[in-house]
Order: sequence, then C-alpha cells, then structure tokens
Amino acid sequence: MRFRTERPESWQVCIDCANEMTELDPHPRCTVCGGLLELQHRPPSLTPAELMERFTERRGQRPGGLASGVWRFREVVLPSATDVISHPEGNTPLLHRDAIDRWSGVDRLLLKHEGHNPTGSFKDRGMTVGVTQARRIGATAVACASTGNTSASLAAYAAQAGLPALVLVPADQVAIGKLAQTLAYGARTLLVRGDFDDCLRLVEEASERLGVYLLNSINPFRLEGQKTIVLELLQQLGWQPPDWIVLPAGNLGNTAAFGKALVEAYRWGLISRVPRLAAVQAAGAAPFARSFAEDFENRYAVRAETVATAIRIGNPASFDRAVHAIRETDGVVLAVTDEEILEAKAVVDGTGVGCEPASAASVAGVRDLIRRGLMEPDQHAVAVLTGHILKDPGLLLRYHRDTDPPPPGANRPIEIAAELAAIERVLAGG
Ligand code: F0G
Repeated sequence: MRFRTERPESWQVCIDCANEMTELDPHPRCTVCGGLLELQHRPPSLTPAELMERFTERRGQRPGGLASGVWRFREVVLPSATDVISHPEGNTPLLHRDAIDRWSGVDRLLLKHEGHNPTGSFKDRGMTVGVTQARRIGATAVACASTGNTSASLAAYAAQAGLPALVLVPADQVAIGKLAQTLAYGARTLLVRGDFDDCLRLVEEASERLGVYLLNSINPFRLEGQKTIVLELLQQLGWQPPDWIVLPAGNLGNTAAFGKALVEAYRWGLISRVPRLAAVQAAGAAPFARSFAEDFENRYAVRAETVATAIRIGNPASFDRAVHAIRETDGVVLAVTDEEILEAKAVVDGTGVGCEPASAASVAGVRDLIRRGLMEPDQHAVAVLTGHILKDPGLLLRYHRDTDPPPPGANRPIEIAAELAAIERVLAGG
C-alpha cells in the first residue's frame, strides 16, 4: 500500500519494499515482504526556530549546573558554590499507580522516585554538594561508611571530581548492585567484618587520623543537597504542600534533611503550612521508633537485622537532628516488619515502578498509618522511594525464583525446550 491522499501525521514504512502501513498496524514486520519497518512523520508545521523554542520551554532548564534538580535550588542549598561537581542529578518523577492506592488504602498516593538519580538512589543529591564542598576546601581524598548506596554515589562523584575515594561497608551485607557499582566507579573498597555501625565508628576514627574528608550524612553539606527532594516535590505540586511526606529511615540523615527543608520552606514563604513527616524504620532496626514511642525521653541503640539492608542500622548518627525534624513537623515514627516491607515491594514492583527493599518501607508505612487511623484516605500523601529496583537483584531472585514454597507475589521463571509446543503448553496452563 502507499498513502495517496494527504499523509497522516505518522505512518510505518518497510525499509525493503517501501510498503506503507498505518501507525496503529500491529504487525512487527512488513505484511508484504517481511522486511523491517520504520516510522515516518509528516514535517512539523512549526519553523525550526519555533520548534527549538518549544523544546527549550518544555525542558524548563538550560544546560549546565542549573539543569540539576539540586543546583536549581542553589540559593537555599549552597549559594556561594561556583564550580559544582554535578552529574546532573535530581529531576526525579512523581508517580501514581492505582494498584498502590488500593494496597495502601489511600485515595491517591504519590511516589517520589529517587531511584531515578544517576547512581540509582537519593544519595546523589547529597553527594553532589558534599563532593563540591570537598573540592572547595582542597580535600585530597574522601571517605564514607555505607550500607551500599552512599558508597556507590561517593565513588561516582569522587571519580568525576578526580578525588581518591575510600569506602567501608559491612562484609556480606551489601546488596550486590551497590557493591558492584562501588567497585566499578573505582573506590578503594574495604569489606569490614562487622555491621554498618562498626563501619561508621571506624571511618570517623580513620578520617580524623588520616586527614580524609568524611562524606557520611553527618556531613551537613550532604543534608543540604538532600533537602532538594522535598523542594523539588513541593515545586512539582505547585508549592501546594501535601498533608504527609513518608520516608524510610536508617541513619536518619534524610529525616533530618526533610525536616530542615520544610521548616525553611515555611519560614521563607514558599509554603503556607508544614506537612507532617512520617519516618518509617524496619522493625528489626528501629531504635528511633522505640524512642519516639517514649516521646524521645531515651535514646536507644540496637543490633540491627532486616532484609532491607540499606536501613540495617542500629545506632543512627543523625538521631538528634531527626528528633528536631519530627518535633517541628508534628511528625511520627513507625516500624514495619520485613514481611510488610516485602509485601509492599511486591506491589510496587508489580506496577512496573519498582524499588529497592528499604524504599518499600515508606509504602508499608503509609498502609500502617491508614490502619491506625493516623492518616485519612482522602489526605494527600507523598511516599519517597529512595532506591532503584536493580540495587538488590539478589533479593529479587531469592523472592521470585528460589524461595520454597513461593511467597504470594512470586513470579517463577519457566525453563522450556526451544520449541513452539513448549510455549503453547505454558500458555495453556500445562
Ligand atoms: N533508603 C535507602 C535506599 C538508603 O540507602 C538509605 C540509607 C535510607 C533509605 C535511609 O536514609 O540513612 O538518611 O535515614 N543508606 C545509607 C547508605 C545508610 O550508606 O547508603 P537515612
């Protein structure tokens, strides 16, 4: 076929026989000769200059540092910084999926997906500021302790800045995607026989002794960058604050950063009321939740255990800052079980959104808030997904492929012979 009248906006054409097919024709190859298809478009009705202007407007930013979802807010992050080390980062989406509403019990739950950052977690927002600062003060090397995401992010930004990086991670407790990234970006990686809390103690001692710039979230410049998760989501909502912002909590740097961002945004007139924060810990690593239940009268440290290795932290470093954040936002702190985290994760993954285990704690936390009557279904809530689904492929394969009996959401792969009959048998349910 060839279109003889006015051409439609787009159509498919065979690169072998020039047969033309409509845009919506479902055949994967040319229906005449079996050749490969190509999509063609009518020339746009706008002039080149008009087109370019339209693309620039939609993009919303010009190239350079300000294209970053962190440095866009530079006036409230680090106004004096000039030569920034930016990937760029941020500009992460606010997502919505009906199935997650149904599971959590909220009418319309928004998900701020920080797994869309360059190294796959929110840590990049803090790291761009931290490594920029390291360069400004003339640091010769940078270091951190990590459950995996901070180390991957530090390794990437240090590589960009040309600074040697030293990371300490707990041996055998880091998700495989994070360890692989850290190695590949070139950080000197030490596997410590101990847990994250041991790593943090050690790296603090080492950085003092060796004169290495410490880039854990106790570093305040990291937190300035992480504030932009909140600023960016408020901007995406047209500066109309939600009722709740829910986030997973481990070392409590992010909880502290969120509190600071909200208080400042209110003080500086960007928002007219302060949303409530809900910090969600894993039940096996919940010293902050326990302290909250006693109105923060006591501070606890525990030996942490959870499948969500990112938040497997027993003695959070930013404890005191996070207490301020919860108090100043009329916030709450919850603990959810590993079963709840895995169930939430299966729902988030099953919608095609996907996230790493620790991130799903926020969605599990939303369901808990609803069940306990603390959150109303018609309230506006944003849950933060902190890391990408591919951070922890080991857990995914254990859950879907290896666990016997299969958990409720398991999607077993099926090995078949290389023949059509085998596919037919599977599709027929045999
Ligand atoms: N979610 C993910 C995916 C994380 O990697 C972390 C922390 C958190 C949540 C909790 O944030 O510590 O500020 O309360 N990961 C750190 C790391 C500890 O080393 O990557 P927090």
